[in-house]
Amino acid sequence: MNYPVWSIPGIGGSWLVGLISVIHVFLSHFAVGGGIFFAITEWIAYKRGDDRIYQYLKKHSKFFLLATTVAGAVTGVGIWFSISLVSPDGTGTLIQNYTLGWATEYLFFLTEIATVFVYYYTWDKISKETHLTLARWYAVLSVFTLVIINGILSFMLTPGNWVESKLWYEGFFNPTYWPSLFLRIFVMLAIAGMYSLVTSARIKNKDYKELKVKNPDPEHKNEDDFRAYMLKYSSKWFFPVFVLGPVFGFWFFSQVPGNVLDNIFNGIQASGVGNFSILARAIYLSLILSGTILIFAYIGPYLNPRGFSFIAALAFMVCGLGVTAISEWSREMLRKPYVIYGYMYSNGIKVSDVDKINEEGFLAHSKWRPADNESPGEFIFKQQCMKCHTTDGYRSMTRLLGERDKDAIKGFLTLMHETDIEKNSYLKIMPPFVGTNEEIDMLASYLSTLNKNK
Ligand code: HEC
Repeated sequence: MNYPVWSIPGIGGSWLVGLISVIHVFLSHFAVGGGIFFAITEWIAYKRGDDRIYQYLKKHSKFFLLATTVAGAVTGVGIWFSISLVSPDGTGTLIQNYTLGWATEYLFFLTEIATVFVYYYTWDKISKETHLTLARWYAVLSVFTLVIINGILSFMLTPGNWVESKLWYEGFFNPTYWPSLFLRIFVMLAIAGMYSLVTSARIKNKDYKELKVKNPDPEHKNEDDFRAYMLKYSSKWFFPVFVLGPVFGFWFFSQVPGNVLDNIFNGIQASGVGNFSILARAIYLSLILSGTILIFAYIGPYLNPRGFSFIAALAFMVCGLGVTAISEWSREMLRKPYVIYGYMYSNGIKVSDVDKINEEGFLAHSKWRPADNESPGEFIFKQQCMKCHTTDGYRSMTRLLGERDKDAIKGFLTLMHETDIEKNSYLKIMPPFVGTNEEIDMLASYLSTLNKNK
């Protein structure tokens, strides 16, 4: 209510943020996982005196450089633009709380980008030891970008004691900080493996025939199929997340507020999906898809690398992107109806302001006024509801209001106005309606026109 509302017809603002973010997550996780991948794989190349791996890494690093610095950075900036327009209050809270955190993040990010450029352009130009040192530096710097952003991301779901104390470190090292950090690192290693499956599947053995190997891997002593060797090697990067992921996943869920878990497993009655919520389905889907990836990584590139095709490698990417999308979506959903759990609702209204606004009026508190051609009801709808609803697109008001006339809508809004969860079970998915009884009337007048016009 401190900012004007940016309306995106059809998909709504949250899906726009979601689309950009999922692509960014898939690339940025590759940037970090890939950093560790280069540091370890280049070290193996030197240890075994394997010129083939060295040659492969040179090619893979071009793909890496383009994917992470160009596409990764552009989508990263895209997140900033979209979140600050879609959720200005939430973004503002994050900036005010973590100004130094963001500044540090940018420093790491800049040095990370500088290092990867130097890394890419100095193959064969500097000593191998120095080049490997660059890879290690890159790995450390990119992990540190995660160390920082993870504090801010997990803060939004579990701000913990920060809500009362407002001490930044209590919000930063919050209850889900450590499990999220480790989960993300394991996922990043798997994503690095996925990308390397794609470039390894394109290896042509004849290009590597002349290259020497001093101390071949004992398991692959008499093998000249370098493509198969790299595919099998890449598939091993999937295993940490599948062995340790469940343990850290369990730790993560044990730190999420209790009523959030109730919502997942008992379902949200009000959302009309019976007693098995969409969120629970999404979480199961993400687990099943992850299990499928593991099984296929094992019987595909691990056991039968020779028969593994480039198309199959791309299919892994698509599944990986799918799991990323579903898991990030679920994590965001866990937090609803808040943008910062227990502190600020998705529509930017602070929990602590609700009583005061109910008494004094939403319009009186808003820094903006309805436009000339806009009724006060439409203005309230944009400010309070449009973060999650559209008029006739995603989560359409026209569809959800159904047959309700103005009186029925007033009845609904009066229920939504209740701040006691015993009386208003919608509080599990929606913020309360905030404002006076006259404002309920204004909003109901506007909403009833949506119903009639359909
Ligand atoms: C934090 C997100 C969020 C906000 C903000 C929000 N809603 Fe909702 N609303 C939901 C979700 C999720 C559902 C369930 C949708 C479904 O079942 O498809 C829902 C459902 C509804 C329904 C259908 C409920 C039923 O049982 O028939 C109505 C009506 C509704 N919202 C109106 C509003 C109004 C009016 C506002 C603003 C005052 C608002 N919502 C704000 C998330 C939100």
